[in-house]
Formats: sequence, structure tokens, C-alpha cells
Amino acid sequence: MRIEIKAACLLDPGFLYQSATCILVQSLPALWFMDTPIDDIEHILKTARSVRRKLDFDRPISREDIEACINVAVQAPTGIAGENWRFLVVTEDEPKRKIADIYCEMLMQISESRGVQLKSTHYALMKRLHEIPCMVLVFAIGEPEQDVSSQVGFFGSILPAAWSLMLAMRARGIGTTWTSLLSARSGDVAEILGVPEGVTQTVMLPAAYTRGANLKPAERLPAREVTFWNRWGNSD
Ligand SMILES: Cc1cc2nc3c(=O)[nH]c(=O)nc-3n(C[C@H](O)[C@H](O)[C@H](O)COP(=O)(O)O)c2cc1C
Repeated sequence: MRIEIKAACLLDPGFLYQSATCILVQSLPALWFMDTPIDDIEHILKTARSVRRKLDFDRPISREDIEACINVAVQAPTGIAGENWRFLVVTEDEPKRKIADIYCEMLMQISESRGVQLKSTHYALMKRLHEIPCMVLVFAIGEPEQDVSSQVGFFGSILPAAWSLMLAMRARGIGTTWTSLLSARSGDVAEILGVPEGVTQTVMLPAAYTRGANLKPAERLPAREVTFWNRWGNSD
């Protein structure tokens, strides 16, 4: 009798469909890892360079692309406060121009006060920043405490999302640059964009589709030179 029922269930197309769907859904994460070659993931991670030139200033970024990238960003780790990220996408000319003015002022000031020689790419972005199709500002609800541990928790709950956003945009052919200097003028930016009190401004990613940018891994010290084993300073 039991065998008969089981046989009937197995022959039922609805039952078969449900079982197949169930198995597929449960094994999707595993399948994804199997189907995404490690080289593809590493390629994106290693070539997420700042893109300040070779940007298409005339092509608006679709809302669909931005939202898809933000949906990736919100999968980042989040601390106890939980999902305290907010993304402000600026596409209108007037606020972009005001923000670009502050950015340029800050960059020149920092370069002069610290004696840092800016690269030609910094100037290239600075000159056209007001024309960038969009600026994505990443905010965290709340404010960090003074102690380091709280700050690690606070910024550790927002900056991974900003980095994921940058990677997701890289994967979709959108070039960005990690910029944080506007946070020194967060009051002015808040006034321009109507940001309320009690919200912390972190990075601003100027974003545009890239125009054939050839993104390569940067020169960095290898793991052997920046890694210790078991005790600080021990490389063996
Ligand atoms: C905390 C931080 C702040 C940065 N701020 C700026 C910035 O204001 N403007 C800019 O053009 N690049 C900025 N950058 C990007 C660095 O200049 C960039 O990482 C560096 O040029 C190395 O180039 P790469 O991103 O292609 O490796 C910043 C990067 C970091 C980590």
C-alpha cells in the first residue's frame, strides 16, 4: 500500500515539479559557487581600480543598474545596529555642481597642506566632476562614538557595503572612484541634499559607464610581505 502511494506520488507531474524546484532552490548557493569560476571573481576584485578618465559623461546611468548594484551592496556584513545604510544618488545638475565645487576646494586644500602631488587623473576627474552622471553618497544612520572599538564597529558596518557597491558597479561596466574627503564638509553637503541630523556621511562614489577603460591589477606588496603567522613580525 505504502509503495503504491509513493509510486503514485512519483508519477504525479505536480509532485515531480515541486520536488525538482525544491531541490534546485536548496542547492542554488552551492551551484552558484560551482558555476562562478574563481578567476572571474578574482578578476573583478583585482581590477576594481579608480576610474577618473575614460568615463562616459553623456550617458545617464540607468536607475535599474543603480538599484541592482545597491541590492548587491546591502548583502554586505552589518553590525548589531543592522542595515543602517542609506544611499543617496545625486543626478540633478545643481547639487552635483555644488558638491563638485566643495570636492575641488577640499582636494586642492589637502594637496597643498600635505604637500601631496596630485596625479593628472585627479585633475581630470576634478575638472569634469560636476558633469558626472551620478554621485552616490553612502550614509550610516547614527553617529560613531569616540572609542576605537565603537568606530571599528560603526564604520565596519557601512564601508563593506560601499565597497560591494563599487565592485557591483565595476562588474556592470560602471567606473567609480572611492572618495572620502567630502566627509570633512558633511555639514555643507547635508545642507545641499537635505540630510537630517544624526546621520553620518561616509564616501562619495562619482559614477559613469566606462569607455573602454583598461583596468589592470595595481602594483601592491605581495601577501608574503604583509602577512605574519602566529606572532607579529613572524613571516615563517
Ligand atoms: C580613504 C580613501 C580616500 C580616497 N579619496 C580620494 C579622493 O578624494 N579622490 C580621488 O580621486 N581618489 C581618492 N581615493 C582613491 C585613491 O586615490 C586610489 O585608491 C589610489 O589612487 C590608488 O589607485 P587605484 O584605486 O586605481 O588602486 C581615495 C582612496 C581611499 C582609500
